[in-house]
Amino acid sequence: MRSLLTFSPRRSAEFSRIGLNELVRNVLRILHHKLKQYPDRLIQRHLDEALPTIQANAAELEQVILNLVLNAIDAVDAGRGAILIRTRVADERRVILEIEDNGCGIPLEDQQKLFEPFFTTKPVGKGIGIGLSTCYHIIQAHGGEINVSSTPGRGARFTVVLPMTVDSGGS
Ligand SMILES: Nc1ncnc2c1ncn2[C@@H]1O[C@H](COP(=O)(O)OP(=O)(O)O)[C@@H](O)[C@H]1O
Ligand SMILES: [Mg+2]
Repeated sequence: MRSLLTFSPRRSAEFSRIGLNELVRNVLRILHHKLKQYPDRLIQRHLDEALPTIQANAAELEQVILNLVLNAIDAVDAGRGAILIRTRVADERRVILEIEDNGCGIPLEDQQKLFEPFFTTKPVGKGIGIGLSTCYHIIQAHGGEINVSSTPGRGARFTVVLPMTVDSGGS
């Protein structure tokens, strides 16, 4: 599933007005069967139900969320893992999607390289290192930003910032 999704070509993106929370729910629905092998409540959600909409390509952003969640699942120790997906308002113009885990974390020297194509620390057959570079390009195309912060050994947090829908002023 992972390789199919990460290699699916970027459609000449159609953007529409979208609620980020709905995309998070869609992705968790896609992952439903995979998540059955993990303890209950491995993934928690803190979704701001009053989150303003964004202008986005739904399929592409779902791919971003899926990549980030799959990476978080890979990073946590199944028995003690916790993954938090949060949406919130950043400022008057932007919203934030955060995916946080308490897994292995990322060594400082790797944190710069994560978004480069083919950077992976996973064994052959498990990772090919294209997920985060794909995320980076998709978020760029949405006029947003993606950043990582991590304390090695304690976990990682990926923060995606996206512009809100700009109303054209008509009532
Ligand atoms: N949540 C995370 N916790 C720790 N390391 C991570 C996390 N997400 C990504 N990484 C690191 O970034 C690398 C690149 O991720 P990605 O581009 O998705 O490729 P892949 O998952 O195929 O290795 C991973 O191999 C891993 O070392
Ligand atoms: Mg990945």
